[in-house]
Amino acid sequence: MIVCKTIAECRREREKLGKLAFVPTMGALHEGHLSLIREASKHAPHVAVSIFVNPTQFGPNEDFSRYPRPIEADLELCRSAGVDLVFNPDAEEMYPPGSPEISIDLPQLTNVLEGQKRPGHFKGVCQVVAKLFNIVQPQVACFGMKDYQQLCVLQAMVKALDFPITIIPCPTVREKDGLALSSRNRYLSPDERQRALAICRALFAARDEVSKGIRQTNRLVATMQQIILSPGNLGHVPVAVDYIAAVDPVTLRPKEMVDGGVLLAIAARVGNTRLIDNILIESAE
Ligand code: PAF
Repeated sequence: MIVCKTIAECRREREKLGKLAFVPTMGALHEGHLSLIREASKHAPHVAVSIFVNPTQFGPNEDFSRYPRPIEADLELCRSAGVDLVFNPDAEEMYPPGSPEISIDLPQLTNVLEGQKRPGHFKGVCQVVAKLFNIVQPQVACFGMKDYQQLCVLQAMVKALDFPITIIPCPTVREKDGLALSSRNRYLSPDERQRALAICRALFAARDEVSKGIRQTNRLVATMQQIILSPGNLGHVPVAVDYIAAVDPVTLRPKEMVDGGVLLAIAARVGNTRLIDNILIESAE
């Protein structure tokens, strides 16, 4: 496995490989990332991973400085997963002093949900992913559905800017008890981790209601609110909700009925940790 720190080195090494599938990450790799790498290897004979905690997608009061950076463990995981090339630049390499400001904005998809709660977040994501696509030049790129809005935004960016890249959406990987895997789960104390389960339990309960025939999304949202806001054993509300939403999976706009598909999405804080999760209900007959 080749590890490149500079753009020039990455371009040189990439040229030696043929068709390439790419998994962009911010490191702190877990089974969710490994499932993206496994999926990537089904689409091309070579796989590249980037490990870069991108400063431009974090807001001023967010967790950029404390974001976990276990680079040696990450490289070991990539090596054992059969990755061919890792691009692990530092911030100065990606954003040299004096580089011009640039912004890729897809306002229709970014002024809701995460974009509304994290102003500028998706501009940063688009900026770094566009740069990574130009540097790594993959034919295929894999993104997890846990960051569903990110996936939609990047699919739209690829289409709007004609990147010759196929985006592969990959299912969310969960712990046995349902908690969606996230690098940020590392922040959770055992008590917080227990409280965080309210998020996936609320989503699962709403999905069960759909399977029992409920079609009005306001009833699903009410169910999710009730679960997520009901005091647990300790007598306090388990998480602080940022949003609970039922939206159209394509436009990300609120939707009244589930028919034809709906995305149920939750963002909430558990202690100092902000978590997101969602469930896509593709269609309800
Ligand atoms: O999903 C992530 O880890 C990041 O947003 C990404 C796509 C690697 C861009 O920094």
